[in-house]
Amino acid sequence: MNAPLIQPLYDEVQHGTWSLLYRRQRENLADKAARLYLDALDGMESLTEPTIPRVEVMSAQLEKTTGWGLVIVPGLIPVDDFFSLLARKRFCTSTWVRRRDQLDYLEEPDMFHDTFGHVPPLMDPEFALFMQRFGEVGEALRGNDEAVLALQRLYWFFVEFGFVEERGMPMAFGAGIMSSYGETNHAWDLRSDLRKFTLEGVMSTPFKTTEIQQTYFLIKDIPEVIRELNAWHAGLS
Ligand SMILES: [Fe+2]
Repeated sequence: MNAPLIQPLYDEVQHGTWSLLYRRQRENLADKAARLYLDALDGMESLTEPTIPRVEVMSAQLEKTTGWGLVIVPGLIPVDDFFSLLARKRFCTSTWVRRRDQLDYLEEPDMFHDTFGHVPPLMDPEFALFMQRFGEVGEALRGNDEAVLALQRLYWFFVEFGFVEERGMPMAFGAGIMSSYGETNHAWDLRSDLRKFTLEGVMSTPFKTTEIQQTYFLIKDIPEVIRELNAWHAGLS
């Protein structure tokens, strides 16, 4: 068994880059992001300090609130491993932080994306339940390539790039939006042209990881997404 990965210490330049990313994006999100996200972010002191957060501190806070925890990974991991972690209420994060000259473009997610983008919503019981159920369904469908692709599309258009409705307004939510200044502004400009979320709709919509999004979906009710996911899974067996 491999030894657990350990978060490194960072130098002043890296902390400065994180601080710049955090301050710029927190201000940008103030009137665009869902309260579901912002309230959780602001309540996590580990994420609001001006230095790069410690994974174990964020993990401990998640554990107290929704029973989730964080696991350090070296980078992207196989989809089956990802499903298994989610099913056990574990989210994975890398620990490398982009350089100052990479503020707005990355080929692979860094720790700012994995934590600033993904961790706050896991403080919400309904969203956390969706993520666990998503992992369980993914585990159960291991080897069914068509079904796994459908699940990846659901993850993409909801967890990474979804909008959620709050008080009748579409608010930005997905981690790919939350962690990117450029994506936030691009998505916000398209907010009057969102597609209404249906499971069938997202599962039949291809995505490209290398291009800026042109299609965003609006989720009205997270428990309803869980019900649809369960019904879809039941219908496959
Ligand atoms: Fe992500």
